[in-house]
Amino acid sequence: MRPTYRVTELLGDGIGAELSQAVHTLAEALPLDLCFEPVDLSLENRRAARDAVYDQAVASILANGVALKYPTITAEESPNQVLRRRLNLSVIHRPVTTIPGVPTNFRRDLDLDIVRIATGGTYDDPGRMIGNDGAVSLRIVERQAVLEAARYAFTLARKVGRRVTSASKYTIQKATDGLFERVTNEVAAQFPEVEHNVELFDALLAKIIMAPDKFQIVLVLNEYGDFLSDMACGLAGSLGIGASANLAFDASGVVRVALFDAAHGTAPDIAGQNRANPTAIFLALALLLAQLGETGIAQVLKDSTLDLLRRGVRTRDLGGSESTTSFTAAVAAEIRSRLEPVG
Ligand code: NAI
Repeated sequence: MRPTYRVTELLGDGIGAELSQAVHTLAEALPLDLCFEPVDLSLENRRAARDAVYDQAVASILANGVALKYPTITAEESPNQVLRRRLNLSVIHRPVTTIPGVPTNFRRDLDLDIVRIATGGTYDDPGRMIGNDGAVSLRIVERQAVLEAARYAFTLARKVGRRVTSASKYTIQKATDGLFERVTNEVAAQFPEVEHNVELFDALLAKIIMAPDKFQIVLVLNEYGDFLSDMACGLAGSLGIGASANLAFDASGVVRVALFDAAHGTAPDIAGQNRANPTAIFLALALLLAQLGETGIAQVLKDSTLDLLRRGVRTRDLGGSESTTSFTAAVAAEIRSRLEPVG
């Protein structure tokens, strides 16, 4: 019997409709059933329905556990921020891979999984002035948040056979970053089969550039994750085709809710023209499938997409001549051909 999963689908603006169609076409090529439950987060509907649309989205996501979100216009509010707050999405998993066909100044291959604690650090406190010439802000690190992120990183490492590097400035920020590394070590001790090493964050940046193959899963506090994600995307040249998982956990540290999205926006300049590149949303779907436990199918989806790009089957933004629909059809055919011999 084919496994069946319910997935909340957060419809957006611009190229969102074309991406949704592409995702549905791809889903038909998979040996499982994804029952999509749509919630309309388009700007028009957000303005008409106001809080009710977020109530509907949150209820659906909590019931289904997983959601796929298409890009939305940030106007009065950022839907991403609203959902992050309302669902307590406290960890961001952002894979960054050099993608064949994407021009980059960096000549090496990069394949990082950045696991970032998305709360605290220096970002929860804007700081305050002390008199006219000084300012101070709080840096917040909490055991629970580190536990959740570390458990996620090590579980992922065990599942996919990769190693974990935790990085911080524990030699200087002894209390905050010291706590981060201590809690991470406690979690690492529960995963003896996973290789774990510790780097100072500044050294890590240099080492990733000089020897990217040494790094696989990188676990970091909020601001470091922010810096590292952008640096890695810049190296990979793939700011536009990144995807991420936004995660919330239950009291025992198990993922309770996971929302997957593409990093790019609504691309209003090409909306409705069958020109959108669906790579990022396909990679987001692969992350979603992995979260559902379908790691094999997730890998086939990811490999099929990337191998086609490598072979020159690309949309126009990557210098190719494929449309959204023709690229999607090619990925669907590739997936079918790879899954046939075993299925
Ligand atoms: P954008 O990412 O939409 O577009 C930047 C450039 O990249 C455009 O030339 C666009 O055509 C191209 N592009 C983006 N995605 C593409 C794709 N999948 N295939 C082919 N080309 C693609 O960024 P921009 O123009 O700054 O923002 C447009 C709107 O998107 C804004 O309203 C912004 O608020 C929203 N936005 C939403 C995000 C989200 O929902 N996660 C993230 C970023 C922006």
